[in-house]
Amino acid sequence: MSTALWRGAGDPRGAHALCEAVSSARRYAHSRGVAQQAARAAHAMSLDSGARRRLLTAAWVHDIGYALPGSFHARDGARALRRAGHEDVARMVAHHSNAAARARAVGLAPIDGEFPRPAGRDAALLALLDVADLLTGPDGERVDPAGRLAGLVDRRGPGSPSVRALVDNVNRLGADSTTRSLIEQLSAPGVAA
Ligand SMILES: [Fe+2]
Repeated sequence: MSTALWRGAGDPRGAHALCEAVSSARRYAHSRGVAQQAARAAHAMSLDSGARRRLLTAAWVHDIGYALPGSFHARDGARALRRAGHEDVARMVAHHSNAAARARAVGLAPIDGEFPRPAGRDAALLALLDVADLLTGPDGERVDPAGRLAGLVDRRGPGSPSVRALVDNVNRLGADSTTRSLIEQLSAPGVAA
């Protein structure tokens, strides 16, 4: 795997190039959908260009760990991004979509011990990344939280830790009124693509 591609993954263009080079077609389509939803979230929240770029970078590589050997994609991707010098992105990837809770549920070592949870501005960006991931299906299609949950139950079964983590994630994100209205706005049918 090209070191230069990994080193360049600290901005949206480079993160996109890495994702396209190493991901399966389906995972690439999902990541593109998440990046598109992240761009909509950035617009809706009037992010400045620096914050928007950080969010889009994380969106393109959030699932990059699936292309790597390993058993837990959030941590696998975060480790590779850290090795490539992208510590801030690595921390967001390590914690995306409630990964720490999922790791706990399957008996893995705590994520927080290896990757500190993003704080301050990056904590807000992580919430936006999680909204974008929540509202994107496995083929990149736009879904609402109920649709995402139904699809996951179909694929993994109702008792799967992934389903539990998604429910927790919806509850966690929905507890914040600004995030909840963003979810409603971005998952509403008929929103311009
Ligand atoms: Fe994802």
